Amino acid sequence: MNTRVLPLRLGVNIDHVATIRNARGGGFPDPVRAAKLAEQAGADGITAHLREDRRHISDEDIERLIDQLTVPLNFEMAATDEMLEIALKHRPHAACLVPEKREERTTEGGLDAASGQNHLKSIVDELMKAGIRVSLFIEPDPVQIDATVALGAPVVELHTGAYCDARQVERRQHLDRIITAAAYSAEVGLECHAGHGLTFDTVGPVAALSEVVELNIGHFIIGEAIFGGLEIAIKRMRALMDKARAESGAAKSV
Ligand code: PXP
Repeated sequence: MNTRVLPLRLGVNIDHVATIRNARGGGFPDPVRAAKLAEQAGADGITAHLREDRRHISDEDIERLIDQLTVPLNFEMAATDEMLEIALKHRPHAACLVPEKREERTTEGGLDAASGQNHLKSIVDELMKAGIRVSLFIEPDPVQIDATVALGAPVVELHTGAYCDARQVERRQHLDRIITAAAYSAEVGLECHAGHGLTFDTVGPVAALSEVVELNIGHFIIGEAIFGGLEIAIKRMRALMDKARAESGAAKSV
């Protein structure tokens, strides 16, 4: 009998390199350069969110990422016709549907897949027909997981923001919700990703969950890069993920 640890991918979100660039309206720092560096430092994928108001990533950034990346691009998008058209034009490896409100600072909650919004079904269908792997960014809630299955998307990304923002006791409660949701998503046949707000301090317990196969992390890594460089920040995150994974029950008998 062999024991192996299921691999856990790290998607590095480079949105906030563009936030800094856009603060001065020029060309640097270049998010595509950051993405290439992230690849070299061990990122398994790059995540970028083209927001409707283009506050960070631009249309041109997406074009350049598609041209230059050698790892998969996970295109975060609102479920709108405009974003669908852009995704179908570029055909990224994956698309993650997220809720978007113009006034929010970041993606503050998960997508309400259970609200019966008819347009979600057609957007999921169109993306899947184009060969794009679709995920829904949802709260760690079984109702949303069931709705994801009903919509036909193969992947969920569990929102870890509330867990990361909470203090000790509440944090444990939020972690329990993530643990339950990750197990349930695997039970119903979904691939499970997680992300939002993860840091060196909060990544371990999520990385330890055997059902979670991808983490998407941005803001903290880009912030850390200011102090020690992007490569060091990514390698440290990667090492913490791998350590938590190796020490956990993610070791499966095969
Ligand atoms: N996953 C999704 C779906 C997101 O919207 C974001 C934020 O853009 C992230 C992951 C990464 O979150 P953070 O930048 O807080 O690490």
